[in-house]
Amino acid sequence: MKVLESNAVKGFISMANDGWLQGWHERNGGNLSYRLTAAEAAEMADDFDKGGEWNAVGASVPQLANETFLVTGSGKFFRNVQSDPEASLCILRLDDKGESYKILWGLKNGGRPTSELPAHLMNHEAKLIAAGGKHRVIYHAHPANIIALTFLLPLEDRVFTRELWEMATECPVVFPDGIGVVPWMVPGGREIAVATSRLMRKYDAAVWAHHGLFCSGESFDLTFGLMHTIEKAAEILIKVMSVTGGAKRQTIQPENFRALAKEFNVTLSEDFLYDKQV
Ligand code: 13P
Ligand code: ZN
Repeated sequence: MKVLESNAVKGFISMANDGWLQGWHERNGGNLSYRLTAAEAAEMADDFDKGGEWNAVGASVPQLANETFLVTGSGKFFRNVQSDPEASLCILRLDDKGESYKILWGLKNGGRPTSELPAHLMNHEAKLIAAGGKHRVIYHAHPANIIALTFLLPLEDRVFTRELWEMATECPVVFPDGIGVVPWMVPGGREIAVATSRLMRKYDAAVWAHHGLFCSGESFDLTFGLMHTIEKAAEILIKVMSVTGGAKRQTIQPENFRALAKEFNVTLSEDFLYDKQV
């Protein structure tokens, strides 16, 4: 099978385009990765380049040894993924230590995988362990409202989680574990990857202060839906803060969240249901 005929690859391309249409990917902003199943990698193996040299990942992810990933290229624009996937994306395979990768397909005009490859792979590894291999998608985007909140709210997991939960009744059902916050750090390296993957053991989403958001999920739909839900909640909070400076006449209260958790069969940590002023 040709790579571009694969349903996984088609799903990846359509998710990238959906993110572009949302306005989350100015220029080359954001990146996306998908951990292929062994069956998906096998069915497109004829289309893979058998040669190619090994390159350092810049992080060590031994739990992901020999795994195959579809990822966006560094400096490539989400805007162009749908029209020219072979120039914008690549499929890479890790070596048996999880320290180097080899490109099997894509980046036909040259280039390298996203500069956030260490963060993507460390997040994949954290999720492989924490979610028993169910998660396959890691998505980084630059949605404006969640970034704006990092200038307004304290950079604390419990504050971001609680404020976003309050903005839409379904939020605690969509991300019951909450959301983590990484303080401002230099992007693209191992240090920010370590900080993010530590949060990803606990949460499915981590904000990068003054930069963007990382989400993890089992499928393209769920991961895109998580990014979309968080950004929508952030947009509502920005609207409220724009009008009143943040004061709310009424909101969803801790006892309301507890009732919701019971009805929707989710566990909401009491850490996020602390007492506060409206
Ligand atoms: P890349 O073009 O290398 O993927 O970088 C974009 C980005 O959002 C960095 O955080
Ligand atoms: Zn970014």
